Amino acid sequence: MDIIFNRRSIRRYKKQTVEQEKIEKLLRAAMQAPSAANQQPWEFIVVQEKENLEKLSGISLYSKMIADAPLAIVLLANEDRMRLQHYWEQDMAAAAQNILLEAAYLGLGGVWIGVAPMQDRMKLISELYGLKSKLKPFCVIPIGYPEEGQEHKYVDRYDPGRVYYEGY
Ligand SMILES: Cc1cc2nc3c(=O)[nH]c(=O)nc-3n(C[C@H](O)[C@H](O)[C@H](O)COP(=O)(O)O)c2cc1C
Repeated sequence: MDIIFNRRSIRRYKKQTVEQEKIEKLLRAAMQAPSAANQQPWEFIVVQEKENLEKLSGISLYSKMIADAPLAIVLLANEDRMRLQHYWEQDMAAAAQNILLEAAYLGLGGVWIGVAPMQDRMKLISELYGLKSKLKPFCVIPIGYPEEGQEHKYVDRYDPGRVYYEGY
C-alpha cells in the first residue's frame, strides 16, 4: 500500500474547509480498526469552529498547529464500551493510524497529537468538553489540505539490522 509508505505528519494546512463527506470517510476508517475482542471503545469529537480549535490547541507545547487547522478530531475511549479494559490504548492507536492513512488517501494530511497517558493533557481535554470520568481522551488529530511544501512523501526507514529470524 503506497499510502503506508508515503504518509507523513502534516502540520500546516490550507484555509480550505474539509468536506463533510471526507470527514465521514475519516470516521468510517477509524471505526474500521481492529480492537481487542472487537470492543470498539472509540468515540469522536469533530471540531471545526475556529474558537474551539484555538482552545484545543492549548493542550501542550506541541499542539499549536490545531489553531490553524480547518478540522480536528478528538479521539475518546468510553469505559462503558470496554470489555478488556487494559487494551483500550492499543485499540485507540489503531483507530488513530487509520484516520491518518485515510486522510493521506483523500489528499488531506494530519498529525497525531499525543494525549494519553499524560494526565495533565487528558484533564485539560476532559475539562474543555465537560467529559465524565468514564471518557478517556486518547489523542487529537488536526487535519486539512496540506500547505505548499507539506506534501506526503516516502522516507526510507527500513533497517534490516532490527530484524531477527527465528530467535534474537
Ligand atoms: C504517540 C504519538 C504522539 C505524537 N505527538 C505529537 C505531538 O504532540 N506533536 C506533533 O507535532 N507530532 C506528534 N506526533 C507525530 C510524530 O512526531 C511523527 O509521527 C514522527 O515524527 C514521524 O514522522 P511522520 O509521521 O511524518 O512519519 C506524535 C506521534 C505519535 C505516534
